[in-house]
Amino acid sequence: MRGGRAAPPFHARWPPDSFFPVPSATSSAASTTRHPRVIEAVRWSPDGTAVRIIDQRVLPGDYVELDLRTLAEVCDAIATLAVRGAPAIGVAGAMGLVASLAPHANAASDAFAGRLAMHAERIRATRPTAVNLPWALDRMLRRAERATGAPREILDSLRDEATSILAEDRAMCRSIGEHGVALLTPGARVLTHCNAGALATGGMGTALAPIYVAAERGAAVSVFADETRPLLQGSRLTAWELARAGIAVTVLTDGMAASLMQRGSIDLCIVGADRIAASGDVANKIGTYSLAIVARHHGVPFYVAAPSSTIDPAVPDGEAIVIEQRGADEVRRPFGRLIAPEEAAVYNPAFDVTPGEMVTAFVTDRGIVRPPYDFSRWGGE
Ligand code: MRU
Repeated sequence: MRGGRAAPPFHARWPPDSFFPVPSATSSAASTTRHPRVIEAVRWSPDGTAVRIIDQRVLPGDYVELDLRTLAEVCDAIATLAVRGAPAIGVAGAMGLVASLAPHANAASDAFAGRLAMHAERIRATRPTAVNLPWALDRMLRRAERATGAPREILDSLRDEATSILAEDRAMCRSIGEHGVALLTPGARVLTHCNAGALATGGMGTALAPIYVAAERGAAVSVFADETRPLLQGSRLTAWELARAGIAVTVLTDGMAASLMQRGSIDLCIVGADRIAASGDVANKIGTYSLAIVARHHGVPFYVAAPSSTIDPAVPDGEAIVIEQRGADEVRRPFGRLIAPEEAAVYNPAFDVTPGEMVTAFVTDRGIVRPPYDFSRWGGE
């Protein structure tokens, strides 16, 4: 471990009886008792007619669940980041396809096939950078091609496929955690960016999965969460889910990471990914690249944790990754308050690309992968 300050005290509430326990009534965070016990960012509603998500636009102030049924609801939830994070939007896209097609189960076969293609393309167009979304939709379309029978039977097959995508994502997260925990020495101080935790996946997350597994085993690990401008996924979401799991978390604004590393207060960085090219170049939340540069400057290992479904062997390198550009008001008027003049132009890419050569290792569901990177034969099934 690198020198510097002692690790912040570990919350003495471990081991829990689930990964994401709600603080008890005696806890200072008593208001969270209205929250469910386990974080499930995406799941079926109890009657199976809707995709139930946690509305991530309003956390941490409010806890609201939304049921998505129509194509418009599914597309809007993904585009506005009510559900977000590469694996979670893949899962929600697949499940949303099923929910939005349900009213058409009695349509003629040709009409149903047309609907299926149209719904898949509309959902695919919501966000361009994370490969998990097209990966999941392509998998759904392949399943529909293989299915036989009337639209109702095809829909049943699609529901099975979407349920498998969710279950597999959960298993991949667990596996990333089991592999990644080996990187965490006792008392490790981990810096992360954005949210690559339970809220971003169908399971316990990617970058946060090793931390959850370490905590499960009673190890004291603490996390420093970059706030993550402009939408604050780090302070609003990562800090929220870690705090409710009883894991010590410190929030910092993005510009403070360099000073923390300069002081020797960070042992390693772990971030998630939205798309990993065959070369190992990584698209992830804007600001990840700066963090990788700072980590390299200070000799801090920089890890990327991701499931196989985030690896895109068809994209040779980072230059070929399409980066989503988002609206000016996310920067100019965050959360409704004007903080830059209306006349100023705004630069607001949602992601950047970190060259693979700056990544110490990838933590995947198949194990830890070290350089030289060649993901040209990878990818989800
Ligand atoms: O715009 P977002 O919030 O969807 O961006 C999310 C990220 O960049 C995550 O780091 C990435 O999707 C990995 S989530 C396991």
